[in-house]
Amino acid sequence: MRTIAVYPGSFDPPTFGHLDIIDRSSRVFSRVIVSVALNIRKNVMFTPAERVALLGKLTRSYSNVEIDSFRGLLVNYARDKGAHVVVRGLRAISDFEYEFQMAHMNKKLAAEVDTVFMMTGERYSYISSNIVKEIAAFGGKIDDLVPALVRDQVLRKIRKGK
Ligand code: PNS
Repeated sequence: MRTIAVYPGSFDPPTFGHLDIIDRSSRVFSRVIVSVALNIRKNVMFTPAERVALLGKLTRSYSNVEIDSFRGLLVNYARDKGAHVVVRGLRAISDFEYEFQMAHMNKKLAAEVDTVFMMTGERYSYISSNIVKEIAAFGGKIDDLVPALVRDQVLRKIRKGK
């Protein structure tokens, strides 16, 4: 059976943790649509177009992964794409409450869409986009947290902001 999965998120910026989930999802599902959420109430460093471009470059080697963006409800987007699976990464118990609420709410909105959780690889379980930006802003090294391409873009944004 061909299963289409959507992996939604802010990806501001994409981290090694996100790439780990993309890599593993690409082995489980026939097609993975990594989609940048446009209407999020967050302070973002990168424009949606920049995040889409970064993800595109980072996932170029996967033939069954594509990058997109969406506005509005995730379940409506998943329906439009013919996806019955939403992939989310779980790093720690602290992620659980929010993910639990979101998965149940999405199920209530669209019974045919299931959320599949993947435990983020142990070595990436402490990485978050917010921590990456904070460490970089204070001059810390982020080489182990994000690919070099992302590191350079984050540092460029920080230099521009100063
Ligand atoms: O990377 P994030 O910020 O944790 O991703 C959260 C995201 C974008 C997946 C979530 O906020 C979302 O799905 N937003 C779209 C709007 C929506 O469907 N909201 C209802 C979710 S119950």
